[in-house]
Amino acid sequence: MSKKTILVTGGAGYIGSHVVRQLGAAGEAVLTLDTLATGFREAVKAGELVVGDTGDAALLERLFTEHRIDTVMHFAAHTVVPESVADPLEYYRNNTCSSRTLLKAAHEHGVRHFVFSSTAAVYGIPDGGRAAEDTPTAPINPYGRSKLVTEWMLRDLARSGGPRYVALRYFNVAGCEPGGSIGQSTPNATLLVKVACEAATGRRPGVSIFGTDYPTPDGTGLRDYIHVEDLATAHLDALSYLRAGGESTTLNCGYGHGFSVREVLAAVESASGAPLSVSEKPRRAGDPPELVAVAERIHDVLGWTPRYDDLDLIVRTSLEWERKIAAGDPEAYWAA
Ligand code: UD1
Repeated sequence: MSKKTILVTGGAGYIGSHVVRQLGAAGEAVLTLDTLATGFREAVKAGELVVGDTGDAALLERLFTEHRIDTVMHFAAHTVVPESVADPLEYYRNNTCSSRTLLKAAHEHGVRHFVFSSTAAVYGIPDGGRAAEDTPTAPINPYGRSKLVTEWMLRDLARSGGPRYVALRYFNVAGCEPGGSIGQSTPNATLLVKVACEAATGRRPGVSIFGTDYPTPDGTGLRDYIHVEDLATAHLDALSYLRAGGESTTLNCGYGHGFSVREVLAAVESASGAPLSVSEKPRRAGDPPELVAVAERIHDVLGWTPRYDDLDLIVRTSLEWERKIAAGDPEAYWAA
């Protein structure tokens, strides 16, 4: 009997492509569905790529009919917080309504396992800057809300006979595949490590620190930066867990400790060997001072064992990819 297929939406994007690569290396049969709006064909290192939208019910019907899909990993989404504030309905369309369309098709076609890319943004501004899975959800932007509604749909559907699921709440994802075969090339990046590495390689003039008056040790925002390769492994662990009959669950994905903006920039300077042009700006709207995972549960439930819990390594792998882009390396890809 041939292997069951894993449908990966958003598999050509930053995080999805790292998961697709690991799934391929593990011998899984993978089918990627991606609009290529922000993803890259070259990033898909395993299985077939179908170019299309997760919200396209007719396309989903065809894919679920033609392939023996028993697992869905759902990455396809808009992910830029300020954009979500400016255009909330587009975020609800893509992140919430399309997720509903996907869930409906998956359920109708008997999909058994669902792994969902959720976000630490569902917590908003938790007390003390730390969030456990049972910390009340109180998102402060449409991005976080658009993802939280999908968590609710998953939970309700699972209770009425739908797929068992693992919802993974990502903290701050950074870094690139250490072998340099794929990386983060998302256009118009806003994420700190990516922005700083672009500045270090001359692709932008400098980097801004948004807020130096936070109640944190050095006044800048604190975040829990997790290497994308460890995050990808969490998805494979979630798959094994669901296949072994694990109950539906929601898990934080972070290391459980944070770094400030200044610490991140210092790590980039040390990796690149040159100072960055840094300007201090006012706080960015909607940024919590501190957001760090309480991360025990994912270890306990999935047996997840991170390998790259090291800011210097995270930054180095990001910088190596950025240097490939800057040098026009044929292995790299980027938006024109
Ligand atoms: C947010 C979301 C996260 C989402 C991500 C992508 C929250 C709590 N988290 O992460 O779920 O996936 O956006 O949009 O909403 N910073 C600078 N200069 C920069 C860029 C960032 O100082 O040029 C600072 C920010 O103020 C923050 C930290 O660096 O303190 C990290 O910011 P960023 O990388 O944008 O991620 P988040 O906003 O934490």
